[in-house]
Amino acid sequence: MQDLTVETVTDAVLDQMATTKDARLREVMASLVRHMHDFARDVRLTPDEWLTAIGFLTKVGQACTPARQEFILLADVLGLSALVNLMHDREATELGTTSSLLGPFYRDDAPEVPIGGSILADAKRAELLLYGRVTDADGRGIPGAFIQLWQTNAEGWYDLQVDGGANMDMRGNVHCDAEGRFHVRTVRPLGYTIPMDGPVGDLVHRQGRHGCRPAHVHFLIGAPGYRELVTALYFSDDPHIDSDTVFGVSAPLVIAPVANDPDAPVQGMPAVRYDFTLARATGSGSNRVGADPKHILAAE
Ligand code: BEZ
Ligand code: FE
Repeated sequence: MQDLTVETVTDAVLDQMATTKDARLREVMASLVRHMHDFARDVRLTPDEWLTAIGFLTKVGQACTPARQEFILLADVLGLSALVNLMHDREATELGTTSSLLGPFYRDDAPEVPIGGSILADAKRAELLLYGRVTDADGRGIPGAFIQLWQTNAEGWYDLQVDGGANMDMRGNVHCDAEGRFHVRTVRPLGYTIPMDGPVGDLVHRQGRHGCRPAHVHFLIGAPGYRELVTALYFSDDPHIDSDTVFGVSAPLVIAPVANDPDAPVQGMPAVRYDFTLARATGSGSNRVGADPKHILAAE
């Protein structure tokens, strides 16, 4: 019979979990228990606060649908997604473009867009050209590299936030040419607040945070033999460029459109040139800190 105390309960739990066969599960759960117990002792967690936390996490789960991932949002506002990205980038054996957040609005079934095509169903504002190359770490173009890009519409909404995601818009999949080059037309995205109408938004409000993300375009780029790159480009003049609620901005990803870029493959609109670098693949495993929300609910 154990005589548990505030000090000994942690070891009692760790002893019981030591039978876990999967070594990684054993390691992760043991560390989680140690940190959670230390946290509870540190803040002297009360029964009421414990119940509030259970209620909060229950609401986070209930807010999840095939089109909305409140748990990803929670990990994002706590900086956990950014931390996992930063640690993952550090594992790469070659220097590639810096990662950024996948976010909760990625869809894996966006339409194919030809080079020079538009990702807009209906352009309401002045167009913007995005162009550049996808190269390896030595600067050689990667033929046929596959780019998926997505962004908000002219009002600052992703298509998944409009009519439950019934219509696909502001996203497209582009294959680079034989030299790894691409160009695609879009509009300048608007900065936006993360979804604030759920439990994570309530938390962000109570913390006195603005909840905004600076304007950006997401990119997911892959090619056989290379590490998949999840990143985003951020517009330098956005008022929230230095205070992103989800910590996705880093200096190498900050861009500014050029009004008359003589090198741009299409003239008559501002252009952003960005060359992405893919590191060579080592091992397996996903580079995505996130997923299309419909797959998360479908997963067993
Ligand atoms: C996004 O960039 O799409 C995003 C990322 C994290 C939370 C909310 C939105
Ligand atoms: Fe986004």
